[in-house]
Amino acid sequence: MFPDTDTAPQTIYLKDYTPAPYLASHIALTFELFEDRTIVRSEVTYRRNPASSSDTLVLNGQDQVLLAVERDGAAFDGFTLAEQKMVIEQAGEQFTLAITSEIHPETNTALEGLYQSQGTFCTQCEAEGFRRITFFQDRPDVLSTFSVRIEADKQRYPVLLSNGNLQESGDLAQGRHFTAWHDPFPKPCYLFALVAGDLVRIADTFRTQSGRDVDLHIYVRKGDEGQCAHAMASLKKAMKWDEEKYGREYELDLFNIVAVSDFNMGAMENTSLNIFNTKLVLAHQETATDADFISVEAVIGHEYFHNWTGNRVTCRDWFQLSLKEGLTVFRDQEFSADMNSRAVQRIDDVDQLRRLQFPEDASPLAHSVQPDNFIEISNFYTMTVYEKGSELIRMQHTLLGADNYRQATDLYFSRYDGHAVTINDFVQCMADASGRDMSQFFRWYKQAGTPSLQASGRYDANNSRYTLTLRQSQPDTPGQTGKQPLLIPVAVGLLNADGMETHATQVLEMTEREQDFTFENVASRPVPSILRGFSAPVKLSTDLSDDDLRLLQLRDTDGFNKWEAGQTIALRTIQRVMADAQADTSQFIEDFGALIEQGLRKETDKALLARALSLPSIAVLSQAQEVVDPASIDQARTSILKSIKQAHKDALVRLYEFNSDDGAFSITPQAMGRRALRNVALELLTVSNGTGCAARAKAHYAQANNMTDRVAALSCLADSIKPERDEVFTDFYERFKDYQLVVDKWFALQAIANRAEIFEDFAKLRRHAEFNIRNPNRVRALYSAFAVNNPVKFHDPSGQGYALVRDAIIELNAINPQIAARQVTPFREWRRYAPALQSQMQQALQSIMETPGLSNDVFEVVSKCLK
Ligand code: ARG
Ligand code: ZN
Repeated sequence: MFPDTDTAPQTIYLKDYTPAPYLASHIALTFELFEDRTIVRSEVTYRRNPASSSDTLVLNGQDQVLLAVERDGAAFDGFTLAEQKMVIEQAGEQFTLAITSEIHPETNTALEGLYQSQGTFCTQCEAEGFRRITFFQDRPDVLSTFSVRIEADKQRYPVLLSNGNLQESGDLAQGRHFTAWHDPFPKPCYLFALVAGDLVRIADTFRTQSGRDVDLHIYVRKGDEGQCAHAMASLKKAMKWDEEKYGREYELDLFNIVAVSDFNMGAMENTSLNIFNTKLVLAHQETATDADFISVEAVIGHEYFHNWTGNRVTCRDWFQLSLKEGLTVFRDQEFSADMNSRAVQRIDDVDQLRRLQFPEDASPLAHSVQPDNFIEISNFYTMTVYEKGSELIRMQHTLLGADNYRQATDLYFSRYDGHAVTINDFVQCMADASGRDMSQFFRWYKQAGTPSLQASGRYDANNSRYTLTLRQSQPDTPGQTGKQPLLIPVAVGLLNADGMETHATQVLEMTEREQDFTFENVASRPVPSILRGFSAPVKLSTDLSDDDLRLLQLRDTDGFNKWEAGQTIALRTIQRVMADAQADTSQFIEDFGALIEQGLRKETDKALLARALSLPSIAVLSQAQEVVDPASIDQARTSILKSIKQAHKDALVRLYEFNSDDGAFSITPQAMGRRALRNVALELLTVSNGTGCAARAKAHYAQANNMTDRVAALSCLADSIKPERDEVFTDFYERFKDYQLVVDKWFALQAIANRAEIFEDFAKLRRHAEFNIRNPNRVRALYSAFAVNNPVKFHDPSGQGYALVRDAIIELNAINPQIAARQVTPFREWRRYAPALQSQMQQALQSIMETPGLSNDVFEVVSKCLK
């Protein structure tokens, strides 16, 4: 076995990038799959890269037993093996290298490279998993065409797939068979994929805009085929959307999706062979919530869109990850907005950014969207690279306007199809297509931290003029101080005191630290609606009064800012109650009643109203606290929820009844909105966890004909100590125990319980026969649900919450380093908590740090957290 080296983790820098010394225009791979080993042979003709001055060929390789190396057909030993590398010095102009090695997918628990998931062989090569398959220049700027031959037992593995087109298949001796694949588009090795298993296929076709028919296949385990219709419909919608919105057509004859149960992330865009976590393919009303349906559609779209943004045009190096991820997230968000409700989509995307990316940007793990260095690239598949990266694309779309943006992306595809490029290259296309100078904008990619934006207004009645003063500031982040002002697009409209819009949305381009913007012909003191649609990822503070915000909440024409105004009022109210438990909240409670009444009207947008009736989460509220104390936030928040129930119980019951099921189940935005609104009513009605609450939630569960309503009932019962809780949770488990994704929900809904018994419950769940620490979905269902969505108990003063996550990280470190490193993030903001919590969090991090055999993944995040 090629030894894992014990050298200290090394930092890699963007500034050290040099082109690959050798080109590898084609790679031929052969896999012989067996139960106890896999034999891989790769053959590559290397040619010196004219763009490089080096003639040292460096091949990456990890966890392989090297069996044979041949150069130009003869046995070869002119290489050295060290630190997971095979090095050939003075390698020559051109030569062919054939390497045979043995690998062990059957014991691969890291789920990188080739591994097995419940009997199916599959691969995950992004970012650096290909080096676990064969020795190769495992870097995205080496582009090759691939031919792949797979041999395996025919009965166990009737389905053998790889990228591109099927060339040949047939039987072999001893009950074995083979397939041979060819992918004509040069690609980096991180997009290589192989699947071998006993799977069923759902088939459909799509006719492209130029009239070609593409076969669409989704492969799942037997029994899951009834849950694939939504994924298939989503794929066809995505293919059409990309033709219409970006002019991008699919060019191969086949597009495969395979769903597997063991997967570190969501899904992977391997050329023509996308591999998905089952969670993001399977969806049926009985087993999937509305949120699941939405995310299946989004991620099917996301991976499909990568075909152009990621595959045809790929990344030069991993510092450019946001080139493909930020852009592809923006594309999937816009796809979802077009398929569903635009305002709701924006609210949900911004809410996610604030809950998960803002804290990252405020933590010791803050990094820029184009990072300057990393130890382990897997740690940089972050909310910053993905979601903030998407916001940066959105801002460029806003600044250029839809037409210029489209011209810029057309230019990008025509200039770089078949190339591995940088974020700078992308932004240059924006500049070239629009004639704009994008250099100041580029600072967004290099400066970490969430900027603050302060707005204050001055009305000059004599001149009918309104002046808005904006100030921006950039926080210091690890390794970055003294930042430059950014180009911030601030979308603003003006309303008058009657709530009429007098000045339509205008995008102010802020470039200075402080800047005045003047509006003329303003007949009376206006109420400004600032940062409409959340036009920039900043923390906005304004001098608007509660009355101004109430006007915006009722009358703003911008759906996002309407919601935002209500959230700001709620935040201010919760803060007042936190400062003084006796604070007067009557106005807020009264206004809330008026909102509830809106839900009793037919024409109301129910999805939007459901969001308006939801108070900001503890995660969002925490960010406004100097010293974070989740328990006191929860106390204030819950007391307001109880006051709402007390004041408006009858109206809430009517809201609940009025929005009851109207017959056949559907997933139209209207039907989802109705369920969301009804379930918000249920949540408010059950907030006190009394006997009536438990009965009401149980009845809701019993009547449900879909998973959204069932999950709503369970989450209303989670904190309860009434007997209905166990009855319903037990029924749910018995009914759905054959559905792994539903069992995940069962774990998660118990892990988020904010009740005294949580630690005993947690211990039971941890020992439950269905808990399996090797399955990332199950780990997320138990541990991430607890640490992220149960802030009060994770931060329990006893320290038990910290201890159980710490122990899981130490255990996972040896099993699956990527998943282990992810579990560290709930600790990252330890310095922001009250001293007693702070020191316990620090100790937990310290003891992880002292674990022998720490992976690079965990080492990097824990050491940065402690720095
Ligand atoms: N490129 C995938 C996506 O579409 C993410 C895969 C990352 N996998 C990993 N193990 N780091 O977002
Ligand atoms: Zn992606």
